[in-house]
Amino acid sequence: MSVQKIQIFDTTLRDGEQVPGCKLNQAEKLVIARQLEALGVDVIEAGFPVSSPGDFAAVAAIAAQTQEATVCGLTRAVENDIRVAAEALRGARRPRIHTGIGTSDLHIFQKLRTTREDVLIRAVAAVKLSKSFVEDVEFYAEDAGRTDNEFLARVCEAVIAAGATVLNIPDTTGYCLPHEYGAKIKYLYENVKGIDRAILSTHCHNDLGLATANSIAGVTNGARQIECTINGVGERAGNTALEEVVMILRQHPDLGLSTNVQTRRLAETSALVSHLMSMPVQANKAIVGANAFSHSSGIHQDGVIKCRETYEIIDPKEVGVVDSSIVLTARSGRAALAYRLQKLGYDFERPALNAAYASFLTLADRKREVGDEDLHALVEQEKLVAAN
Ligand code: KIV
Ligand code: ZN
Repeated sequence: MSVQKIQIFDTTLRDGEQVPGCKLNQAEKLVIARQLEALGVDVIEAGFPVSSPGDFAAVAAIAAQTQEATVCGLTRAVENDIRVAAEALRGARRPRIHTGIGTSDLHIFQKLRTTREDVLIRAVAAVKLSKSFVEDVEFYAEDAGRTDNEFLARVCEAVIAAGATVLNIPDTTGYCLPHEYGAKIKYLYENVKGIDRAILSTHCHNDLGLATANSIAGVTNGARQIECTINGVGERAGNTALEEVVMILRQHPDLGLSTNVQTRRLAETSALVSHLMSMPVQANKAIVGANAFSHSSGIHQDGVIKCRETYEIIDPKEVGVVDSSIVLTARSGRAALAYRLQKLGYDFERPALNAAYASFLTLADRKREVGDEDLHALVEQEKLVAAN
């Protein structure tokens, strides 16, 4: 089976940064952009240049610094937005303009207060103008998740004819179910004339917790780019988490899809973004949460100590985490206690281990977690008891 490449389009610095309280300054954006390039993402969406002078300057600085990745700037289907984005991207080795407009009836009639025909005209004009500045033009059909498929296909055909090279199909409100989103991508792949001249891109929001599942449904039905953010940061419930989709494709080679991401840099990238955005990562977050590779119940600990794969599907080193951790709590068993004691240099034979375990449980019932200091104290106490 041939393996197909999925482009990773990171929008941490654009859609991710729209989170209230997560505003980054230019120096911080440059640090994150450098890290994203080292991580191996294919496209960095650096910002929305027309939105503020600060965003313009940050996009220009990222464009100038970035060597390999494509640098992308967002615009509305508005002439001035596109001219400003083209200017901000002037120093980029691989510039991309990302332009678009709402295509669902809700967006057309309630937000834009116009008609489908007018949206088609504006979409084509925006792509043509973008194309006069850069070769690589991505078009987004905002609220594509709730757009009628036949109209969406008409829009896609028109913008491909106007020169779009990437068609972004956003589930802007995180409404779609995975089978619906997958079917939408398949429909476009099979019905849009000229689709061989462009690639389809997923852009899924997480309002129902389905962003990752929808993105995977998209690429298994023909999309070749995933738009995502580190730690899944983004407006409301966030965007598709980069680390999740990348690891799903890696852990399921049967899908025949791969990315260029250096997975061993995932943990450090997650920590950097969390720190600079002052946005903590929930402990049980897949792949990068503090508990993603830690085991605290006796049955699981016993299994992991004997064979890591019994309760872990990913080797933590693959994502840049040094090791799995065995956390001692009142739910831990003798195997875990002996394991942790051994790591500290103590070897307890069975009867002594039983006695130490009884003392450990008393302590663990008082404390949430028993740490190395507690274990040293416990060993000293056991020595005293044995001596008397
Ligand atoms: O969610 C969305 O529709 C977007 C577009 C602006 C690409 O972020
Ligand atoms: Zn979005």
